[in-house]
Amino acid sequence: MNPVRLTHPVESLDKQCLVREGTCIDLEFLRDFSRSRPKPVPARFSLLSHHRIKRDLEAYCQDAPYNALLSGPGKSGDTESLMKETRVFPALLDFLDYFEKRDPYTYRHSLIVFALTLEIARVMFGAEHALHLSRIGPTHDFGKICVPPSILTKPTPLTLAERMFLEHHALAGYLLLTHYQGADGFAAAGIARDHHERRDGSGYPARRRRLSAEAWTVTVADIYDALISLRPYRKRAYDNRTALEELTAMADSGKVPISFVQALVAMNRRDGLNYRKCSLSRERRGKPPEVNFHGILAKEEGPKAGRG
Ligand SMILES: [Fe+2]
Ligand SMILES: [Fe+2]
Repeated sequence: MNPVRLTHPVESLDKQCLVREGTCIDLEFLRDFSRSRPKPVPARFSLLSHHRIKRDLEAYCQDAPYNALLSGPGKSGDTESLMKETRVFPALLDFLDYFEKRDPYTYRHSLIVFALTLEIARVMFGAEHALHLSRIGPTHDFGKICVPPSILTKPTPLTLAERMFLEHHALAGYLLLTHYQGADGFAAAGIARDHHERRDGSGYPARRRRLSAEAWTVTVADIYDALISLRPYRKRAYDNRTALEELTAMADSGKVPISFVQALVAMNRRDGLNYRKCSLSRERRGKPPEVNFHGILAKEEGPKAGRG
């Protein structure tokens, strides 16, 4: 990766400073950092063996539109059995516990992106490959533990300084997942770093244009759930149709690959059409929310796109 400088420190869940603000993250730093980590605790827990998380995740999956999008028993490698088989590392439980208390949106979003990533991967690549990807969904926003909850839940436009703090979560997640999972977590760490990158180079933290199929799977799941969820910075969520129109427009303007949007649209259909044959409507009939501070900077700073 191209060298990037940390705008804020990276702290572990127990508030230990792992990497100082201003550190240049380059290949040499990453090699030394991953070598100096303590031996990671193996990923051996199923999130669904945790009673409260299982209950919450089941409830979120019952909410529209996920009740129609996620595959139920009877289909090969249905979403629930794939989730059951997924093994996660223990610090993920601490991460979820932290956000359940401080920012319930991030708690719910992390769990639903877990389910949605699995389902998009199942539709596009098959159940076996989906399981291979399954550990990357719930950890994509791990770096948000380094961002004050007051910024994550702010209902009005962010200042430029707050915006930079928020964007810090991508690199922070990369380093934290390397810290907690070692070599086992390299794929998840790379996706935490890259899930706000865009194909046209307008993303962050490194303006990378080429991402892996795994990273695009999480990125599209992340954008879709962010659109259809209630967020503090807008009065209402996008409805399903408008969210799919937004994603189609993003694909048309070169921000995300169109095949991942086709997969989401195919999941919304009832006829089981192969996603590659799914054509996308360019008709804009949906109504985006009227009040939406997403991507707006507080007045004196001028506009800039994209909130995490
Ligand atoms: Fe996210
Ligand atoms: Fe994010």
